[in-house]
Amino acid sequence: MNKVLVAYASRTGKTEKIGEGIAEGIRMKGHDADIVKISSINTAKDLEGYDGYVFGCPTYHRDLTPGMKNFLFLAEQLNLVGKIGGAFGAYTHSGEASPMLFDTMEFVFKMDMVDLGALSLKEATIETSEGLKAGQDYGMAIGEKFKS
Ligand SMILES: Cc1cc2nc3c(=O)[nH]c(=O)nc-3n(C[C@H](O)[C@H](O)[C@H](O)COP(=O)(O)O)c2cc1C
Repeated sequence: MNKVLVAYASRTGKTEKIGEGIAEGIRMKGHDADIVKISSINTAKDLEGYDGYVFGCPTYHRDLTPGMKNFLFLAEQLNLVGKIGGAFGAYTHSGEASPMLFDTMEFVFKMDMVDLGALSLKEATIETSEGLKAGQDYGMAIGEKFKS
């Protein structure tokens, strides 16, 4: 059994909902998943001890949130090379944040990212059965990756 941290930013709870689905999917594959809002993570030490990391951020002003940018500088202090990773986020029309997160995790932190790419979900779909399934499927793909 592996342990995965799902850490997210969310102003109105949409990205949080996606993260909950992802954590469920990871657990469905028999792994542990902790889900934490980044505002409650204060030091790099809080991020230690996980085998995989999934970060989530909504798109505001075609960008990552300022909190997520600071959080990535905290994550930079860990050695995440080769750790399994994924990225997700809610959006309404452009959705830049989650692919940006995914790229940072892949190219800067050199993590072993899930083949599906980033999970970007339109706000209106998140609380539908389709949205919940998309989150769970993404979590299951991360869980499966520990086998390969
Ligand atoms: C002021 C403001 C700016 C936004 N800018 C964007 C944007 O540039 N691109 C986009 O796709 N969505 C944008 N959105 C929509 C949010 O990404 C969307 O509401 C999302 O579901 C919020 O997620 P959260 O509840 O996790 O914070 C914006 C929303 C607000 C209120």
